[in-house]
Amino acid sequence: MTTILQGNIIHTPELGKLETIPRGYIVLEDGVIQGLFARLPEQYATCPVEDWGDRLVMQSFADLHLHAPQYPMLGMGMDLPLLDWLNAYTFRTEARFSDTDYARRVYRALAEDLISSGTTRVSAFSSRHTDATLILMEELERAGVTGQVGKVNMDRNSGQSQEETEASIAETVRWLEHCRFDRVKPVLTPRFTPSCSNRLLEALGELAAEHGLPVQSHLSENAGEVDWVRQLHPDCGQYWETYQKYGLWKPGTLMAHCVFSDEREQAAMGENGVTAVHCAASNMNLCSGTAPVREMLERGVSVALGSDIAGGDQLAMYQVVTASIRASKVKRMETGAAFLTVPEAYWLGTTAGHRYFGAGDGFAAGDPLHAIVVDDSGLPEPVRELSLPERFERAIYLMDKGHIAAVYSDGRRVR
Ligand code: GUN
Ligand code: FE
Repeated sequence: MTTILQGNIIHTPELGKLETIPRGYIVLEDGVIQGLFARLPEQYATCPVEDWGDRLVMQSFADLHLHAPQYPMLGMGMDLPLLDWLNAYTFRTEARFSDTDYARRVYRALAEDLISSGTTRVSAFSSRHTDATLILMEELERAGVTGQVGKVNMDRNSGQSQEETEASIAETVRWLEHCRFDRVKPVLTPRFTPSCSNRLLEALGELAAEHGLPVQSHLSENAGEVDWVRQLHPDCGQYWETYQKYGLWKPGTLMAHCVFSDEREQAAMGENGVTAVHCAASNMNLCSGTAPVREMLERGVSVALGSDIAGGDQLAMYQVVTASIRASKVKRMETGAAFLTVPEAYWLGTTAGHRYFGAGDGFAAGDPLHAIVVDDSGLPEPVRELSLPERFERAIYLMDKGHIAAVYSDGRRVR
């Protein structure tokens, strides 16, 4: 069935390029984009139009790194560096997810929060618990969030959340057998090198190859962590090689942070199709550092954005987008590197993430619609009429959930 959305269309098909179509049209066939038009072609004149008036019809967000079981600890433990924060708060919080009723409650609320914040694609870490992980996948799918979720593997240095090695492998296999969701797929998730034995990394590498599964983990986030990895794997020249050694460094691999990734580590990402997930708010909160985002982009590394809740304190990706702009300005003050412009950061939080999941550039023909409708009429009254790029910038900085009037995910209206 052909349907048409009308409104002020805003999308970013290319890094740094913002395209706007005032009172334009998106033509959809069963939710799949056929084209964008400034004037509606004659052939569609009789099709039903959903008219969003003067509102902004924008791409929805993609959050390529978040920890679902850390949702209850948002805004807590923010005065600790990474390794102390993990031990004092994180492992304990995640241990609670052995309780499936608790998991259901928290994950239902999280999925709702994601959709109402305009995030329609995610790559999420669960906890080590198979059943709670399946509940998370179910709740995301029910709410209309698409993407991938991983049962976390962690068999050393993991406090209350630690697993036995063989149980971790067996539970991963059991989890994979039960992953039958249409829009939420499995991703193998060794937490990070310090929390996984070599035997576990090896088994996960074998599963990745056997089932053709993607991988997500953490890389070079914190100086102490990088030193620790060097001690644990003296045979590896750099952190990334600990993943490569076990078959976990390959196209489709997501690596969160990459704050301390130097030229060689960045080259290894670019050459192997590994995507760096920049988590600016988390890097600031945990005093990890400022990631070399501009360098990675210039070297051709794929970069996307993540909220990294609850190292990051905000789930909403429009806030993660502005956090990454601020972080890039700190980097600019430190090194002179060009900061991220608003359209660039929006591209990282939308198109870059959607592309990871196989989408085209911006609102591309052939893609199921992932969009939000933003009503900016409640923002402070401007002194003059604003252009669409100005309204876009203001919306990114000032919007909250209350401004999101509708959400489309995978071609369906989900809010
Ligand atoms: N490294 C290993 N686990 C975590 C986590 O939960 N959050 C962050 N930010 N880094 C990690
Ligand atoms: Fe993380």
